Amino acid sequence: MIEDQLYRQAILEVAKNPKNRGEIERPDLEARLVNPLCGDEIKLQLKIQHPTSKIEEAMFSGNGCAISQASASLLAEYVVGKSIDEVEKVNSSDILELIGINPTPARLKCAFLSLDTLREALKDDAEGQG
Ligand code: FES
Repeated sequence: MIEDQLYRQAILEVAKNPKNRGEIERPDLEARLVNPLCGDEIKLQLKIQHPTSKIEEAMFSGNGCAISQASASLLAEYVVGKSIDEVEKVNSSDILELIGINPTPARLKCAFLSLDTLREALKDDAEGQG
């Protein structure tokens, strides 16, 4: 229980002082998604290093609850330096591990909004290659 409270505090801290928040001037990939339940939104932009196909820079913007913003911040930080292939494998358990809490079912959508946005951005890459 105490551990859970500590994680909650950590989430609030990240949401208050997020890393990787901002805009990339000319991103290679980008997506913006809105949680239809609450209207909160996340935009995620990625800069890809060529020819390694590694994520050189990842930035997010948007607004929303602490969980959605903290998860976007932690995810953006996490993907930098990883290859597109690795990032494509990021799943919901990775997100829960990153944020360190087990949100209630109603808040899972908040935690996964960043992951959905990442997948949407990567779709652009797959379409670009196809
Ligand atoms: Fe909107 Fe969390 S309440 S994303």
